[in-house]
Parts: sequence; C-alpha cells; structure tokens
Amino acid sequence: MKLILLGPPGAGKGTQAKFLSAAHGIPQLSTGDMLRAAVKAGSTVGKRAKSVMEAGGLVSDDIVVDIIADRIAQADCAKGFILDGFPRTLAQAAALDRLLASKKTALDAVVAMRVDDDILVRRVSGRYTCGTCGSGYHDEFQKPKKAGVCDKCGGTTFTRRADDNAETVRTRLMAYYRETSPLIGYYFALGKLSVVDGMAEIRAVTIAIEGALKTVK
Ligand code: AP5
Ligand code: MG
Repeated sequence: MKLILLGPPGAGKGTQAKFLSAAHGIPQLSTGDMLRAAVKAGSTVGKRAKSVMEAGGLVSDDIVVDIIADRIAQADCAKGFILDGFPRTLAQAAALDRLLASKKTALDAVVAMRVDDDILVRRVSGRYTCGTCGSGYHDEFQKPKKAGVCDKCGGTTFTRRADDNAETVRTRLMAYYRETSPLIGYYFALGKLSVVDGMAEIRAVTIAIEGALKTVK
C-alpha cells in the first residue's frame, strides 16, 4: 500500500503513521524527521534546511524530492510506504507521480486529516518525543503511563522540536494553507482522497483511517 497522510502541522500525521506502519508492516517516510536528522548530522542538506525549518518555511522542492526518491528506492519500501509530510506543494506531488510512474506503480490512497487551527497550536505547543526511541507524547493529550518514563522503551530523556512554539506554528500553518492545502483538490480530482476527522480521540482517528483504506483496496 502506498499512502499519503495529508494535514497541517499537528494534525496527527506522525502519530497515525507510526500506528499504520506497525499494523501494515510498511515504513513511515517523514520528510520532517529526515530533514531533522540531516540538520543534526550537519550534512550539506541539513545546513541548507536548518534556518528555513526554524522559521517555519518550506525547504526547497528539489531537496525533498531527492530525499524521497532515494528513500523510496530502498528495499523496505518495496511493499509500500506511508508518506508523512510529503508532498507539500503541487510541484512535489507532480514529481512523486512521475517517480512512481517510472517504477510502473501509483499511489493507492491519500488521507487528509482535518483539525481546527486553535487545536493545532495547542497540540504542537505541548508535543515532546522520547530521546531514545522517538515515541511521541503530549503534555495534555498523550501522556506516558508513568510520568517521565517512555511507555515503549523506558527512556527517561525527552526532546522538544526547535520549531514547536506558538509563533512558528502560525508561520507553518500559513505555509500549509498557501502551499499544501491545494493538494486536497489535486488528489480529490484524481479520485484518491479520503477525509477523516483528525479531532477525534487518537484511537478513533486510526479506526477512521483504516475504514477509509478498506474502501480503497
Ligand atoms: P514536519 O516534521 O512534517 O512537521 P509538520 O507538518 O509541521 O507536522 P508535525 O510533525 O508538526 O505534525 P504531525 O501532523 O506529525 O502531528 P503529530 O502526530 O506529531 O515538518 C517540519 C518542517 O520540515 C517543515 O516546517 C518544513 O520546514 C520542513 N519540511 C518537511 N517536509 C517538507 C516537504 N515535503 N517540503 C518542504 N519542507 C518540508 O501530533 C502532534 C501532537 O498532537 C502530538 O503531541 C500528539 O501526541 C498529539 N495528537 C496527535 N493526534 C491527536 C489526537 N487525535 N488527539 C489529541 N492529540 C493528538
Ligand atoms: Mg510529524
């Protein structure tokens, strides 16, 4: 299955991609995670992306398309993948279509997650991640069972993203409305789009996405 999770910052793309990845045995391809790893490693790509990401803008199409082309070519993507945060512009969507067509394949589904802006800001501002295994948490909405201890790996160090502050979130939201939201029309026209209520409880959103995928496959 080749799936795109589409939605604004904080919609729950990463949260749901992790569940779907485990349930379907296909990898989560998050361009945000890959770019953050490049920034941390201090690579050429990381150096080009760092200031743009911190300001809440979009990294250039050529960089992210190259990253995804390399990643999709790896063996673990042969059965499919979940794209989380890519494509984010019409140019990226067109490049993805060409990339998949060159491999004689195509997307199966695009699931758009709808969440009101005020909730997005609360979600992003309260988000943190296990520094050991990368599991995601939230101060209010997704607390670990034992405070300060990761449910999954027992890790006790956590990190917060440099771009997760109320001011940058608003810039990211504007980038979403300007550059990414036109993709909803693009995939609707191709007959690939399902829309789910991303404001429901986390488990209910997973069930809604699985329901949408059943109608596709
Ligand atoms: P990226 O890392 O993709 O960030 P984003 O799109 O802004 O999305 P987020 O990761 O903030 O949100 P999410 O939807 O994954 O939500 P999550 O599941 O964590 O990109 C970062 C930057 O990289 C971009 O700004 C850009 O600069 C660059 N970039 C990346 N890809 C690019 C591309 N293709 N082109 C150009 N530039 C690119 O959930 C958020 C919080 O809410 C969590 O704490 C979670 O616990 C909680 N939560 C989730 N679901 C629920 C729920 N249903 N109810 C209650 N709480 C919930
Ligand atoms: Mg994410």
